[in-house]
Amino acid sequence: TRPVLIDTDPGCDDAVALVLALEHPDLEVVGLTTAHGNAPVSETTANTRGILELVDRADVPVAVGADRPQNVALETAEHIHGEGGIRGEVPAPTAATDPVDIHAAQFIVEQAHEHDGDLVLAAIAPLTNVALAHALEPNLPELLDELIIMGGAAFTQGNVTPLAEANFHSDPHAAQRVVRDCEPTIVGLDVTAQATFPPERLESLSRDDPLGLSVFEWLTYYDEATLERYGIESAAIHDALVIAELIDDDVLETASYPLTVGTDGDLARGALVPDARGSTDAPVNGRVALEADYDRFRAILGDSLERLLES
Ligand code: BDR
Ligand code: CA
Repeated sequence: TRPVLIDTDPGCDDAVALVLALEHPDLEVVGLTTAHGNAPVSETTANTRGILELVDRADVPVAVGADRPQNVALETAEHIHGEGGIRGEVPAPTAATDPVDIHAAQFIVEQAHEHDGDLVLAAIAPLTNVALAHALEPNLPELLDELIIMGGAAFTQGNVTPLAEANFHSDPHAAQRVVRDCEPTIVGLDVTAQATFPPERLESLSRDDPLGLSVFEWLTYYDEATLERYGIESAAIHDALVIAELIDDDVLETASYPLTVGTDGDLARGALVPDARGSTDAPVNGRVALEADYDRFRAILGDSLERLLES
């Protein structure tokens, strides 16, 4: 099993990604760190804890992260994900999932040391906590097996501005630091925008238990919000594609580039910029996902949900 730490801002798609990661026998989730993003961090933390209780995994530690980016104002996305950050039922947390008493950034550094060279850090939220962890421990990239990020729109349109995706737009300075210095694998809108789940498969999930009902509600309401706002029929479960790739590395095809992220100005803010033609002398510093096997993704997610609801 691969030890994985997930930095998250649930979020309907985060919620599904967390259920997938927590359930899958090939992954060992060593902790969850919470980020501002889809809602303020107090709410994404409550959602993270509620999800752990829903899947009966109160043993997984939670560390609370930064409540805002360092250089720009807080931006949240309740217009998509709903009041409180998730549309649909999430149980209220109990003392069983009280957060640990260190900051998310410190927790990331501690876990990276503890799993020296073996830990996967999956960042599926604005990158404030990961950038802070890198500031605390500049050797973070060497201490990790892999840093995989949902964020950016390398060769396609963004979802906040024409060039910027939400996680990178929310804290562009953190995204720039992490992309420039931490050798990430970036799973951006190029591939996540098509990572939908067929409504028939969703309909077939058992809603007799609270988990089945919650997953059904999260995805159904998220679909409805996306339809209303963007006119798109089925919502992309962006963050779950990252987890699927950790389970099966044939899900994504990637290519390496010199990469940077813009921080300032109306259009440059949060733009992920690959130097695909080599027009600068910048070194190759990360990988970007260019294609995905969506059938494989849907099979991994669908089979996991069915297994969970049967057990
Ligand atoms: C990303 O932003 C959030 O709204 C989602 O949870 C995902 O991590 C997609 O742009
Ligand atoms: Ca997210």
